Amino acid sequence: MRCGVWLIGARGSVATSAVVGAAALASGAIEATGCVTEQAPFRPLRLPGFGELVFGGHDVADTPLAIRAERLVRSGVIPHGLTGTDAVARMLAVTDAAVRPGIDAGADPAASQADLADRLIADIEGFRAGNDLADVVVIDVSSTEPPLRPHPAHAALDDLEAALRGGEPILPPSSLYTYAALRAGCPVIGFTPSTGIRVPALTELARQAALPYAGCDGKTGETLVKAALAPMFAGRSLRVRSWSGTNLLGGGDGETLADPAAAASKIESKRLVHEQVLGYPVSGDVHIHNVPDLGEWKTAWDNIGFEGFFGARMTMQFTWQGCDSALAAPLVLDLARLAIAARQRGLAGPLTDLAFFFKDPIGTDEHGLAAQYGALLSFADRLAAR
Ligand SMILES: NC(=O)c1ccc[n+]([C@@H]2O[C@H](COP(=O)([O-])OP(=O)(O)OC[C@H]3O[C@@H](n4cnc5c(N)ncnc54)[C@H](O)[C@@H]3O)[C@@H](O)[C@H]2O)c1
Repeated sequence: MRCGVWLIGARGSVATSAVVGAAALASGAIEATGCVTEQAPFRPLRLPGFGELVFGGHDVADTPLAIRAERLVRSGVIPHGLTGTDAVARMLAVTDAAVRPGIDAGADPAASQADLADRLIADIEGFRAGNDLADVVVIDVSSTEPPLRPHPAHAALDDLEAALRGGEPILPPSSLYTYAALRAGCPVIGFTPSTGIRVPALTELARQAALPYAGCDGKTGETLVKAALAPMFAGRSLRVRSWSGTNLLGGGDGETLADPAAAASKIESKRLVHEQVLGYPVSGDVHIHNVPDLGEWKTAWDNIGFEGFFGARMTMQFTWQGCDSALAAPLVLDLARLAIAARQRGLAGPLTDLAFFFKDPIGTDEHGLAAQYGALLSFADRLAAR
């Protein structure tokens, strides 16, 4: 059964890599390395096949997807020759034609946010009807926004909808897209640290519409390693005294996070892991630097100071050098398949068992990677039983 994947930020590196990856997987041109849902425990779920995923989305940029994909080839993310295959070229062309103009954070003198939401809803519904899709999942992979300033209209759905009809923008784009997605009857996934569904009126809307959702901020690098290591220190009763991380990244994400306001959202979601797992405050900061020369690659250097028996001081350091979009794209495909399966089996509300995929999982304080993986496998069992 064909299913829709509507990407907010559809022309970005992660989105383009996911679209190319789905077509390449479906045609057998690449292996499913990095795809969690291709592991044996997920086989009984009969998840949508990669070839059954149909992509569209919103973006504020208009660079054709074929050009975005070529840039990813030149920077070494996508293998040479892959974008020239029939399957991938066709997928890029079809998806390109299904990308609609996005909305930005500024006030639009010609339209209220309610009008903009109506247009976003119509885009998603047109995509669903035009492709005869049973389900469409909306996934935010657009540029990270600054944290939200609370507003009284965020509390109750009626108040929010009244405020959307006014002239002032009330919701940041990620939350307006989420509002539109929920109104269009779609499950939503927040792959970025942006506010998205984390507005009380929107979680209420998801509850009323009985839709599943998950987020926030894909866990693909430094935080993935932290989530694996922090439980080790906790389990061995080794006291972590400090944990400091320096992240160097390039690409569009690096450029966005050069803005301290946007970086604040990312740093907050990265900081949570070790404190939640260890259960006590740990000194040290997370730093993010834009290094355009790194292109699509990122480096994380972490220094962990800890102590053992007799208070003996010790240090652990790690360096993670990752290819950002190669790490993120398979997770986007995993999340699309799982959210669609959850929707088809009538699950609603926060999908806390998907915490494995996120830096700042909605609805749970479980940050240990092994425990999160266990929860994901139980989730697969539960889905298989429904
Ligand atoms: N790559 C990873 O490993 C990883 C991990 C976790 C989270 N993320 C997040 O995923 C997101 C995408 O990363 P990327 O590397 O693809 O970035 P990118 O800069 O390449 O792509 C972002 C895209 O979003 C679009 N965009 C910006 N504002 C928009 C708006 N208001 N509406 C619609 N589209 C808009 C841009 O035009 C661009 O095409 C970022 O927020 C990043 O923090 C990435």
